Amino acid sequence: MQQIRKAVIPVAGLGTRFLPATKAIPKEMLTIIDRPTIQYIVEEVVASGIEEVILITSDGKSAIEKHFDYDYELDNVLKEKNKLKLRDELTHISNLIDVVSVRQKKPLGLGHAIWMARKVVGNEPFLVLLGDDLVRSETPCCRQMLDLYNQVGESIVAIQRVPMEQTCHYGIVEGEGTEFERTFKINRMLEKPSPGMSDSDKAIIGRYLLTPEIFEILGRTKPGHGGEIQLTDALQTLANQQGMYAYEFEGRRYDAGDKLGYLKAIVDVAMSHPTLGKPFREYLQTVSACTCSTSRS
Ligand code: G1P
Repeated sequence: MQQIRKAVIPVAGLGTRFLPATKAIPKEMLTIIDRPTIQYIVEEVVASGIEEVILITSDGKSAIEKHFDYDYELDNVLKEKNKLKLRDELTHISNLIDVVSVRQKKPLGLGHAIWMARKVVGNEPFLVLLGDDLVRSETPCCRQMLDLYNQVGESIVAIQRVPMEQTCHYGIVEGEGTEFERTFKINRMLEKPSPGMSDSDKAIIGRYLLTPEIFEILGRTKPGHGGEIQLTDALQTLANQQGMYAYEFEGRRYDAGDKLGYLKAIVDVAMSHPTLGKPFREYLQTVSACTCSTSRS
């Protein structure tokens, strides 16, 4: 079986849900404590043993590339000021992994964004991680998927069960359980189905392990839901051609592209933070009966 070495992370989206915060900075650079959300995603990739990240970018996203780059001037300033711990942290980030960028010139959809990676990925299976989906787990979600791939040898999408009234916000899969734990063999996939279109509660989260045949399929996929080229539509064709598994990953997923989901991620990360965790948990106890009256829309 071919080794999986590359991960594609589309970061071209506008981030309108977080305006005005995202007017001048990419949504992927919004921080959870002291790290931008994109760093958590890249750290999952690194912890899963991947060698190269391919960012699909658009105008205004250069801060993401800069974040993973080496900053000579900053390094010198930190050295002169003897801020060695911070300097080590920044060196660690710039040494994390090789990062390659590809521009998506028009916002034609997630499927189109992934298609932009075809030349850099080449003819090998690869991972896709969506920057809005943060997953906290003992074994990194991507590592869980790579381990499953070594057994099944087919494409995999990570899923979680969601309340039926939320299925219209996700790609939904239908399928039957298999001999492999927590897996389903996919027979149907729908992007953001309207109520009544499917009785499945298995929602795709932003983690995919795909065979390279997806690129040829994406190249001929017509615009679907919302007039965009949808990855889910191309996945249905790939599933018909080669078979595909849905995997109910172990861990907790946060929709960091949504204000409440982002807030939950911050609180959970802070509660288990090595130095802030204890004082933060103590603080939370004092606000549980909060009488705050200020409200904002
Ligand atoms: C995308 C995918 C959808 C998936 C979701 C997971 O939608 O198109 O199939 O369920 O990510 O976060 P988006 O949230 O970008 O609209």
